[in-house]
Amino acid sequence: MKLTTGISAILALASTAAAGVVTLDARDLPNEASCINYAKLSGIHKFSRGWSQACSNLSRDCSRQLKSTVYVWSKTSCVAAAICESPESIVQYNRCPGNNQQIPEQNAVSALSTNIYKDIVGPCADQGCPMTQQNFVDWTYRSLAAINSTDLPNNFEVEVWFKYMKDWTNTGETIPYANFNDFLHYRTDN
Ligand SMILES: *[C@@H]1O[C@H](CO)[C@@H](O)[C@H](O)[C@H]1NC(C)=O
Ligand SMILES: *[C@@H]1O[C@H](CO)[C@@H](O)[C@H](O)[C@H]1NC(C)=O
Repeated sequence: MKLTTGISAILALASTAAAGVVTLDARDLPNEASCINYAKLSGIHKFSRGWSQACSNLSRDCSRQLKSTVYVWSKTSCVAAAICESPESIVQYNRCPGNNQQIPEQNAVSALSTNIYKDIVGPCADQGCPMTQQNFVDWTYRSLAAINSTDLPNNFEVEVWFKYMKDWTNTGETIPYANFNDFLHYRTDN
């Protein structure tokens, strides 16, 4: 994975140089091989390796949404897909040719929408309350209802997604906004 990323970075540099367009955001644009791989692995939780049709549907909806915006973490299906798949795979896949190459690299994407956070935890978001597992489970099902997904994960799968996020943030049983936002920006697949 590290090797592929390295190669893709070099190829991305070479192709941007050839096109005469050099932007910082283009630094880590994924190459064709990794793009094919990201498409193949859609719906797979990168950390537990479990696959879910529901997650794949969220990921597909996310890509549709991101055709017209670079605000990845302002789209509910993208935030949900980042948790059931991985933040890196969602950002990188959507920076592939045919998707939206204006999207910056993962650590430069705009902050998680406070509206989405509030939708997850409720009005206590204004007082800075952290997200509980139950908040996350309920919101995951709401986000699947919002895309009319008939495929749904079971409770156990959703709890696994929460567990891996919580283990990374290392914030106990709940996850505050700032740590959740960090997860979206800095949790890589390696
Ligand atoms: C979900 O279904 C409703 C009712 O049929 C429809 O209005 C809405 O556009 C659908 N949403 C999506 C994302 O397909
Ligand atoms: C979810 O994916 C399955 C398999 O591709 C498809 O049959 C179903 O219509 C999808 N649902 C939505 C809402 O995208």
